[in-house]
Amino acid sequence: DQLPDLVIVGAGLFGLTIAERCAEELGLRVLILERRHHLGGNAYSERDPETNVEVHKYGAHLFHTSNERVWEYANRFTSFTDYRHKVFGKYQGQVYSLPLNLALINQFFGKSHTPDEARALIAEQSAEFDTASATNLEEKAISLIGRPLYEAFIKGYTGKQWQTDPTELSADIITRLPVRYTFQNGWFSDTYEGLPVDGYTAWLTRMADHPNIEVRLETDFFEVADDYKGKVPIIYTGPVDEYFGNSEGRLSWRTVDLEESVVDTDDFQGTGVVNYNDQDVPYTRIIEFKHFHPEREKTHLPGKSVIVHEYSRFAEEGDEPYYPVNTADDRAKLIKYRELAKAEPMVLFGGRLGTYKYLDMHMAIGAALSMYDNKLKPHFTEGAELT
Ligand code: FAD
Ligand code: NA
Repeated sequence: DQLPDLVIVGAGLFGLTIAERCAEELGLRVLILERRHHLGGNAYSERDPETNVEVHKYGAHLFHTSNERVWEYANRFTSFTDYRHKVFGKYQGQVYSLPLNLALINQFFGKSHTPDEARALIAEQSAEFDTASATNLEEKAISLIGRPLYEAFIKGYTGKQWQTDPTELSADIITRLPVRYTFQNGWFSDTYEGLPVDGYTAWLTRMADHPNIEVRLETDFFEVADDYKGKVPIIYTGPVDEYFGNSEGRLSWRTVDLEESVVDTDDFQGTGVVNYNDQDVPYTRIIEFKHFHPEREKTHLPGKSVIVHEYSRFAEEGDEPYYPVNTADDRAKLIKYRELAKAEPMVLFGGRLGTYKYLDMHMAIGAALSMYDNKLKPHFTEGAELT
């Protein structure tokens, strides 16, 4: 077997972006090893066979970016719909429009406020704690938005996300809790936003659709590592701790259990995402996927809908790692893993698992384009060392 010019571990957006650039612009022969049965990493989606609704298999994925280069790059492989994401939140039998905004404040306090009146109210309520001296997440949140809004919209939800009472959580989990003193309720504030017209998997498949790119599915890098390590450059986008046999201890992650079901109604909740803020409701959110693509209405089976209940918890061995927990202990381990990674010859670490960072899709693409510009292209065209 002839060796490829480059091996990429992981067919997520980071690995696919590197593969596409190296194959298309440099003419390299690229081999992608992916241990799942599909490419696309966590952005992968499938049409539910019964209802024909597109379901994001690793949690709801909304594309948004203010990065011109990333937007232009993504548009080479797919067009995007004009979907604008909105989130609603249930609390004690009412539904509120999130994020915290004037509509929510008026509804929650049962009275209309001008923007200035709302500002004055939140300033008064948040005076209870000083942000700089907050000793835990609860005090920090109250110092930013006041106790009533904290108790309704942060306490229960955050407690469920972390399976921990917010008084026991570190204050630096949140840096800001923006309140919008307008009725604007778009969830993102980026220049560009939308969902891939033909779905995520069509987009991600097109990125790998190049004669110089081979994707080998259901192949765990660690089973074949000896064939490639030290012989060809490797871009590794799997978990950094796993690469080093967890020698410095495991990095901790949160995961989400996704309970998918088909319900016998055309419309279960009237929108894509509803957060459940009450502490006694065990799930954090319900996703109803058909609302992400209103333009596909005629293609969906009438009278049915696909919903997913999300339950957040700490990841155990074998669970999908979703969000870095990032305790002080994790950060100390990460410093050691970064040193090991730096010293590992001919291997570059990237992506959310390889760097232990939560990356949105546009950030994963942007980081991959930077690695291509700053490391891979100089290496393959000018012989620069790969470090
Ligand atoms: P991944 O997509 O995780 O890809 C890594 C790949 O490497 C995986 O396919 C894995 O199977 C493979 N791999 C690992 N180890 C090995 C091995 N040893 N051998 C072979 N293959 C291996 N981003 C947004 O922009 N908007 C959103 O709304 C959004 N929602 C999200 C919701 C959730 C629940 C999660 C977890 C993420 C969300 N993201 C969202 C982030 C998005 O999923 C990431 O930006 C994207 O997955 C990053 O791509 P990646 O290539 O770095 O990692
Ligand atoms: Na290295």
